[in-house]
Amino acid sequence: MKMENEIFLKICWWKSSSSGPASGTNRKCCRPLEKIVLTTTGVLLIFLTFFVAAICLSSGWIDSSIFSGISYQKPLRCTTRNQIQTCPRDYPTTNMDRPSNLTCPSYFKWIYEDLKPWKETGITKEMVESANKSATFKLVILSGKVYVEKYRPSFQTRDKFTLWGILQLLRLYPGKLPDLELMFNCDDVPSGRGPNGGPPALFRYCADQWSQEIMFPDWSFWGWVETNIKPWNQLLEEMVEGNKRIKWKDRVPFAYWKGNPDVNRKDLMACRGSNEKEWNTLLYAQDWGKEARTGFKQSNLAEQCTQRYKIYIEGWTWSVSEKYILTCDSMTLFVMPRYYDFFNRGMVPLQHYWPIIRDNNLCPSLKFAVEWGNNHTDLAQKIGNASSNFIREELKMEYVYDYMFHVLNEYSKLLRFKPSLPPGAVELCSETMACSANGMMRKFMEDSMVKSPSGSSPCNIPPPYDLSTLQEFIEKKSDLTRQVQMWQHESQNKNKTQ
Ligand SMILES: *[C@@H]1O[C@H](CO)[C@@H](O)[C@H](O)[C@H]1NC(C)=O
Ligand SMILES: *[C@@H]1O[C@H](CO)[C@@H](O)[C@H](O)[C@H]1NC(C)=O
Ligand SMILES: *[C@@H]1O[C@H](CO)[C@@H](O)[C@H](O)[C@H]1NC(C)=O
Ligand SMILES: *[C@@H]1O[C@H](CO)[C@@H](O)[C@H](O)[C@H]1NC(C)=O
Repeated sequence: MKMENEIFLKICWWKSSSSGPASGTNRKCCRPLEKIVLTTTGVLLIFLTFFVAAICLSSGWIDSSIFSGISYQKPLRCTTRNQIQTCPRDYPTTNMDRPSNLTCPSYFKWIYEDLKPWKETGITKEMVESANKSATFKLVILSGKVYVEKYRPSFQTRDKFTLWGILQLLRLYPGKLPDLELMFNCDDVPSGRGPNGGPPALFRYCADQWSQEIMFPDWSFWGWVETNIKPWNQLLEEMVEGNKRIKWKDRVPFAYWKGNPDVNRKDLMACRGSNEKEWNTLLYAQDWGKEARTGFKQSNLAEQCTQRYKIYIEGWTWSVSEKYILTCDSMTLFVMPRYYDFFNRGMVPLQHYWPIIRDNNLCPSLKFAVEWGNNHTDLAQKIGNASSNFIREELKMEYVYDYMFHVLNEYSKLLRFKPSLPPGAVELCSETMACSANGMMRKFMEDSMVKSPSGSSPCNIPPPYDLSTLQEFIEKKSDLTRQVQMWQHESQNKNKTQ
């Protein structure tokens, strides 16, 4: 099984404390004063109301849609028993078109790189259809409605939560998505090249340099029920809180990893050594069966920021654990991956993580990284801080939706045919998906549902890389990785000569 099952969580409740009642004013004496006090109180009250409203608005307690006049009054409209679930027709078809003054994070530039194979030729119907040999489903958007044709089952609930995410995107930006047809593959391992007539146009979660595929956020942003990993909007908040609990300097000064060792990670497990001091590591195999029986209570992601260093390492392919590992202020020892996803190409060695080459020297490299960090605590902290800032600010759910919007929008500009309904397609909406779901699946869907359309357009996508800037960026990354290797060699040679 090419499963990733490294990190899990349990539910955490936060109570906001309420303040006591305000003391009243003495009305009996000081009559003239009373007036002043009351007027001042009145003015203060008005100010306070505005202040509270502003806070509520900015923190999202109140939907800004109250003011724009459009919202999904009752978020999910399930029909009663015995009735066939239909898709409501009176939902908003546009959102307020206030332009956004935000520029999207720079990793959005990779959208153009992913679409480059079709820049000159455009995307023909044949290029889309030829991906049907490996696609999990075909998605069609026509006049703001979503249709799906399923080809084959996916692993677990990946396809369901991916489709759920796309439906939420349409609720966030109703009427904004262009008509399109696309093929989506929910597997881990890229499928490789297509037949003649140009590469097949296929969306997926990860790719390597030998595959030409279009990156899209994975299902876990809306929840992974099989491992009890909550939707990202909720989990990120909890992790940011959990991260504050132990200061970096007070954390365990070793490198931590827990996960499934059976998916191509024997080399890492060899670094367990006879004790944690041998390679400066704390490595644990996840007991998948036992964790599943206890609801993954041993694996609360929000309580896992207790070591100074965390290891990210691929299994057979990229791992969903990546964003959770990078969210802690701990410096990530990033074992340089073969596969990329939609956001990790925007990160830079020594700025966001410590690069580790996966070779015969893996254990000494881990040991060196930890020793270096413990000798340069300020720099190690800075790197840990930069990765959690990156995740918190550039990978928040708003930008995940904006990425989806822009990749679909740019893709649709390349289509050389008029999208149409395939014969076997069924209309999909949040109601047809969530109303029949129950248990954890229903809960995750409700928790990740978009409650009202956005008050503005998506962020503005930055212009594409020009060829030389892109080459410089890629070279800079490999130079920094080599730099780290040189430090390691120097240190090892020095130790030998001593
Ligand atoms: C963008 O708009 C928001 C309010 O809509 C404002 O607070 C912020 O300062 C603006 N940012 C820039 C860079 O203009
Ligand atoms: C895939 O597309 C080809 C060409 O359009 C078609 O002949 C074939 O039936 C399709 N296969 C599936 C599984 O839809
Ligand atoms: C860390 O500091 C110790 C003591 O100064 C030194 O012996 C060791 O070589 C240093 N290691 C690294 C990786 O900087
Ligand atoms: C971490 O980053 C935040 C936001 O940029 C900054 O305010 C804080 O000072 C940084 N902390 C450290 C230890 O670098």
